[in-house]
Amino acid sequence: MKYSVEQIENIIYPYMPDSMGEQKNVIEAMNYAFMAGGKRLRPMLVRLAYDLFAEETIGFSIGDDGLFGGTAVDCFMAAIEMIHSYSLIHDDLPALDNDDLRRGKPTVHVKFGEPMGILAGDGLLNYAYETAAKAFRISPGDIRIEKAFMILTRKPGITGMIGGQTLDVLKTGQPLTEDEMLYIYENKTAALIECALMCGATLAGAGNIVVDALEQAGKNIGLAFQITDDILDVTGDERIIGKPLHSDEKNNKTTYVTLHGIEAAKKAADDHLKLAESIVAGLSVKDEDARADLIEIIKKLGQRDK
Ligand code: IPE
Ligand code: IPE
Ligand code: MG
Ligand code: MG
Ligand code: MG
Repeated sequence: MKYSVEQIENIIYPYMPDSMGEQKNVIEAMNYAFMAGGKRLRPMLVRLAYDLFAEETIGFSIGDDGLFGGTAVDCFMAAIEMIHSYSLIHDDLPALDNDDLRRGKPTVHVKFGEPMGILAGDGLLNYAYETAAKAFRISPGDIRIEKAFMILTRKPGITGMIGGQTLDVLKTGQPLTEDEMLYIYENKTAALIECALMCGATLAGAGNIVVDALEQAGKNIGLAFQITDDILDVTGDERIIGKPLHSDEKNNKTTYVTLHGIEAAKKAADDHLKLAESIVAGLSVKDEDARADLIEIIKKLGQRDK
């Protein structure tokens, strides 16, 4: 693999703010959630999708205007993990899934109280866009950054992740049609994975046809990812997944597993991953190592235990 999880963390951690000033409590809660571990799948996907097509690095040297240095793609890697981390804090809140364990640690509202849980989520969401916007300073007027920024604003929003979370919450305790379930999975989970692949490729200057293909790959990875998440909610090991088992049952959620059973769920996840793999295998790329890593990640998602 070109990048370890540790290398990804070394790229994204420095973008987080220091806990100081009147607002230090909320920053502490933001850092607690962000640095708690996690698979770092989304920033890894941003990076590999970028490497697939990048000709040169859009970078800048540290310092003159007081902004943290790095490259445009680094900013987007950090931003997407901030958005993901915020979504987890809010998803765990008492008003949503009411879970008390995340990434093997007490959830933010358990550790810091519910008001700070709400605000830390808000803080991370907003800081994500502050962080991605630093890329505009790195390469002013760069259309690739403008396009990637627009994707980063849209996919986590009301026609993406928030749309999915909305139906998930509204339908809690109620039966779901197959179409409603697919809408929820495609949006609450797949939208952010699509976002990662699309932002990476867009920053590298890939054209619309390629970005559309990666959106389809992301959709299939995301569907498989959520189906597997639902399987692990039933059959996983709490110490390995780092979150409570049976959260879905507790909340009376209809999932792929409750609708079709574990075996059919495993097969569906495998089928989606195979489709994603074939899309990535069919791309014309500059960096074969990045492609091989992406395919390895897709294959491993079929066997993940966390
Ligand atoms: C959990 O995401 C939320 C879902 C979309 C199912 P991850 O399983 O990627 O969580 P971390 O980042 O590894 O903690
Ligand atoms: C939530 O799905 C996906 C998000 C947008 C956070 P889940 O509610 O199943 O995620 P987990 O199991 O709590 O990580
Ligand atoms: Mg949820
Ligand atoms: Mg949840
Ligand atoms: Mg879950």
